[in-house]
Amino acid sequence: MENRKILEIKDLDISFHSTTETVHAIRGVDLTLRQGETIALVGESGSGKSVTMKAVMGILPEGAVINKGSVIYYGPDDLKNGSGAAPGKIGNAAPGEEQSDGDNGVDLLKADKEWVRRNMRGRRIAMVFQDPMTSLNPTMTIGGQLSLAISSHGEEKGYRIKERAVELLREVGITEPERRMKQYPHEFSGGMRQRIVIAMALSCNPEILICDEPTTALDVTIQDRILELIVSLQQKLSLSVIFITHNLGVVAKVADKVCVMYAGKVVEKGTVIDVFYDPRHPYTWGLLSAIPGTGLKGDLYSIPGTPPYLSKDPVGDAFAPRNPYALAIDFKAEPPMFRISDTHYAATWLLDERAPKVKRPAELEEHIKEMRKEVAEYVALRE
Ligand SMILES: Nc1ncnc2c1ncn2[C@@H]1O[C@H](COP(=O)(O)OP(=O)(O)OP(=O)(O)O)[C@@H](O)[C@H]1O
Ligand SMILES: [Mg+2]
Repeated sequence: MENRKILEIKDLDISFHSTTETVHAIRGVDLTLRQGETIALVGESGSGKSVTMKAVMGILPEGAVINKGSVIYYGPDDLKNGSGAAPGKIGNAAPGEEQSDGDNGVDLLKADKEWVRRNMRGRRIAMVFQDPMTSLNPTMTIGGQLSLAISSHGEEKGYRIKERAVELLREVGITEPERRMKQYPHEFSGGMRQRIVIAMALSCNPEILICDEPTTALDVTIQDRILELIVSLQQKLSLSVIFITHNLGVVAKVADKVCVMYAGKVVEKGTVIDVFYDPRHPYTWGLLSAIPGTGLKGDLYSIPGTPPYLSKDPVGDAFAPRNPYALAIDFKAEPPMFRISDTHYAATWLLDERAPKVKRPAELEEHIKEMRKEVAEYVALRE
């Protein structure tokens, strides 16, 4: 049986308004995160990965308007009865909260903003961004920043704060933590800084960790070590993780499930095995073909064309103009999410029973065969 749900995004819909135009960036995203699992959110630049997660964190930029949808956080029982929480802050103090299906869910989009800021952000849900420098204060020592993060949660006092800071640095693989506490961010390498940011995110013992392209700014060998760190922390601390990346090549290393986004929608989702062994959406075929492989000759494949600019809603399937397998209906009607199995779904008209039987391109089949072994090894490692 699957673990309990911890976070559920339902029909999330967001626009950006400026004086000149409105961009419909998120167009009905559904995503369910279960306790202890890692979901990779993938898709090209601009597909809406970061905006979706910023909505979860309650940190949308100016101009963003949530048109509809909900983000339900299913906390432990103490979320409602107030135990284990700051007195009077949890429990009945979340106006607008929503009970869902008899569970103890809270709709973070409707709950009081101050309540969310105090009780959720950085506390139950923490986020790590691409560039560690945006999360670090260049004028303050690492020890100072980490201690501040720890004390702001109010659980540790006095000398315990420093002890906990040292413990966290050790946990993320920083050697000689006592000495390094006295140093400033510029005295660390990019990979080390990202480790420190991860330590800060963990300082509140979050249940959910959202990593937005945490390795993109790092060189390849360092990337791998940070990925390994996230996997080991996820397992050790039983975190539930959403891992954003535009690189499907790293997904099997970290994730149990994959959610593929295109033009503000989820177009395919499934387990790593579903999506790597048996991808169904032509967009996913394109992304998989673009992963460098040992057997591929010539230039690396990239999907021709560019994603639509969402200042007006696309007619039909947003991917149709770039899709060599598009059917006439793709230019007229938006495909629903078709169910392939209990775990695997894709929004493409190719899955309609009336659609012609289209095979994946032969080169992609070869590429999938190559990747399968590696994917199977990663999946086995994570089990
Ligand atoms: N601050 C903003 N103001 C206006 N529009 C924005 C803003 N941030 C994002 N958008 C719109 O939302 C869309 C999705 O942006 P988002 O940052 O979520 O993309 P992404 O999938 O995270 O891409 P990347 O891989 O480049 O990080 C953008 O294409 C853009 O149209
Ligand atoms: Mg982004």
